[in-house]
Amino acid sequence: MEEKRAVTMDKLVNLCKGRGIIFPGSDIYGGMGNTWDYGPVGVEIKNNLKKLWWKRFVQQADNSYGVDAAILMNARVWEASGHTASFSDPKMDCKFCKTRHRADNLIEAHSHGTVNPDTMTNEEMEAYIKEHNVVCPKCGKCDFTPIRQFNLMFETSRGVTEEGQNKIYLRPETAQGEFVNFLNVQRTTRAKVPFGIAQIGKAFRNEVTPGNFIFRTIEFEQMEHQFFCKEGTDGEYYEFYKKAAMQFLIDLHISADHLRFKDHDKLAHYAKAACDIQYYFPIGWSELNGIHNRTNYDLSRHQEYSGKSMLYVDPVSGEKYIPYDIEYSIGADRLMLAVLSEAYDEETLENGETRVVMHFHPAVAAYKAAILPLQKNLSEKAKEVYKKLAEYFPVTYDEAGSIGKRYRRQDEIGTPMCITIDFDTLENDTVTVRDRDSMEQIRLNISELKDHIDEQIKF
Ligand code: GAP
Repeated sequence: MEEKRAVTMDKLVNLCKGRGIIFPGSDIYGGMGNTWDYGPVGVEIKNNLKKLWWKRFVQQADNSYGVDAAILMNARVWEASGHTASFSDPKMDCKFCKTRHRADNLIEAHSHGTVNPDTMTNEEMEAYIKEHNVVCPKCGKCDFTPIRQFNLMFETSRGVTEEGQNKIYLRPETAQGEFVNFLNVQRTTRAKVPFGIAQIGKAFRNEVTPGNFIFRTIEFEQMEHQFFCKEGTDGEYYEFYKKAAMQFLIDLHISADHLRFKDHDKLAHYAKAACDIQYYFPIGWSELNGIHNRTNYDLSRHQEYSGKSMLYVDPVSGEKYIPYDIEYSIGADRLMLAVLSEAYDEETLENGETRVVMHFHPAVAAYKAAILPLQKNLSEKAKEVYKKLAEYFPVTYDEAGSIGKRYRRQDEIGTPMCITIDFDTLENDTVTVRDRDSMEQIRLNISELKDHIDEQIKF
């Protein structure tokens, strides 16, 4: 699909920096490669995405439970999960300009996605790169070191004396916090299989080639949900979570035309099925989230490494088994990027000016309404309205500049409603409510505002 879209990654980065959505990390020190800080507007949007996800997959699911596990886990966890041995990327260095690259990414980019490096061995990738003269994206030379596997886990150490230090890791995924709490959650909630465990939290990966704004970073947040079920029912739940994951994105006002399923060509040895949902990012079609049928691999491995039985006993039949797991995993920052990309629009107004507008779902928008006194001498009444609404919703207040300029600022951060206080407000308690998308205005009584906003932000 070749579609002309107003959005580009550069425009998004600039808008985010200028409007308090996302800043480069450690900005005053010149940044710290591929880290990003969420600003006053961005933190609200990201929190909303996390809250909506939690509401859909934990609060509204009668058989899912949340946890918030420690980032630092016993190093044995990563042996059991396989991360210590094989969570690595094939990296090669350009001998000429010394930049580091992922061999699989070089092949994918060179072949415009027609060759799938996931199915190749390291030797096959090296041979492909030589034969097809795949060049370094930085200096244009084809002269690389042999491929070396590069473990993506950040290491640190625990201990008070240097001799007594133990190597530990920053977790590279939140999933293991759910697996290691399987017994705790099942026992304390008395949950019956099938049931789910969800978590939202930070993960860290020493990515070989991070980049593309918040698409691939070294520190990010994941929203992961493990659904434990009996073998034989796993196919049904895999399909269920594929559908539910897709519906969540569509409900966030991401166009179905910009979303597609992509089955994995190469399955992990323990996996029965795996697919991604891809989004049409400004960089092209790329993974937004994954759904995996992980069989009973993770719980079995933790049983083996911890010595704790992971057997579930069916309370009716007495049957004992280790449940299968359907994993649904989505990056909060990657979802943020998809939502930002989807919302961005440029419209030409009647006076020829361009309006940049973020068409977020109102439930996602940082502020539900902006309170704008038409003139400064109306600020007392406007602040009264602001205080009233701030009890229920995040709202913002702006009295600086012309009303037109203030509308534009709110459009750029996607505030769905602008509430203008004018001289009639002093007379009859009515205000003008301007809709972000249609720019149409209606007149409402102040007492009607809460219900009106509530109606708009339903999800
Ligand atoms: N527990 C399974 C797991 O971690 P994954 O495909 O490696 O699977 C899941 O990651 C999701 O986490 C991805 O679909 C993506 O949304 C997000 N993600 C992974 N690596 C990321 C990175 N370096 N930066 C931002 N988001 C990332």
